[in-house]
Amino acid sequence: MQTNQNISDSNAVNAAALAATGEVSIRTRDLDLFYGDFQALFGVSVDIKPGIITSLIGPSGCGKTPLLRSFNRINERYGNVTTNGEISILGKNIYDADVSLPELRKSVGMVFQRPNPLPISIYDNIVFGLRAHTPRGELKRGMDLDEVVESALREVQLWEATKNKLKDKATSLTLEQQQKLCIARLLPLKPRIILMDEPCSALDADGIERVEELINELRERFTIVMVTHNMGQAKRASDECIYMYLGKIIEHSSTAELFLNPKEEQTAMYIEGRYG
Ligand SMILES: Nc1ncnc2c1ncn2[C@@H]1O[C@H](COP(=O)(O)OP(=O)(O)OP(=O)(O)O)[C@@H](O)[C@H]1O
Ligand SMILES: [Mg+2]
Repeated sequence: MQTNQNISDSNAVNAAALAATGEVSIRTRDLDLFYGDFQALFGVSVDIKPGIITSLIGPSGCGKTPLLRSFNRINERYGNVTTNGEISILGKNIYDADVSLPELRKSVGMVFQRPNPLPISIYDNIVFGLRAHTPRGELKRGMDLDEVVESALREVQLWEATKNKLKDKATSLTLEQQQKLCIARLLPLKPRIILMDEPCSALDADGIERVEELINELRERFTIVMVTHNMGQAKRASDECIYMYLGKIIEHSSTAELFLNPKEEQTAMYIEGRYG
């Protein structure tokens, strides 16, 4: 597998520009995934395009989270995971011996179901990843951390609400603000791909609307893959949808196509609410 893109190229090209070249952001081929003896994914082959939002939908237990978590190998933190098949990110096989897991996870950031800011200040949450990933001398010499914090918080529309309380604990923010902060803290690491596992499921209706607006604003610069149980959200927020059932991909198409004209009977049954 050859590539002209580095998996963690910090001078990230705009995802939309990458899309124009016809490159895919995430590619799997014949991916099987096992937790111990239990097989959670069966022969998953998918191409996820850059610069768009792709939703993963399907009933509980169908393997959305295991698939999402395989894209930055974070699954391996959650048990005895083995895989067959191939996963490439920006053209690079992530199981190659020369792939560094910290670099992979910098490039492929993750937002979880419940906002999980660290129990430290808002400011320190934003710079935590940078501090962890950058040699100390370089941080001191080359970077104005205040600027990094302001820019990340502005990008998630949180600057006005937090600029006078950056030293407050992040856990004192509302859930909506905490989830935005969890997105903001990825940005200084210059990710290429952001994975979101039901990012709005802990939020109220206003919070959902505002976080969806934010995700929409991020779409052209990043490849976004979002798991959602909310069909309205999948329709509103995503460009393409992948419908999964029992560890397999049943259908992958544009959101309009999948909801208006599903090719598979199983997809039609799910989106009509007949099961799941
Ligand atoms: N860490 C794990 N160890 C063992 N089995 C797991 C693990 N994570 C997931 N599984 C199993 O894999 C299958 C699919 O996973 P999971 O239920 O997370 O899918 P999902 O589609 O994300 O579901 P939900 O919509 O409920 O979040 C389930 O049978 C689950 O029990
Ligand atoms: Mg899940």
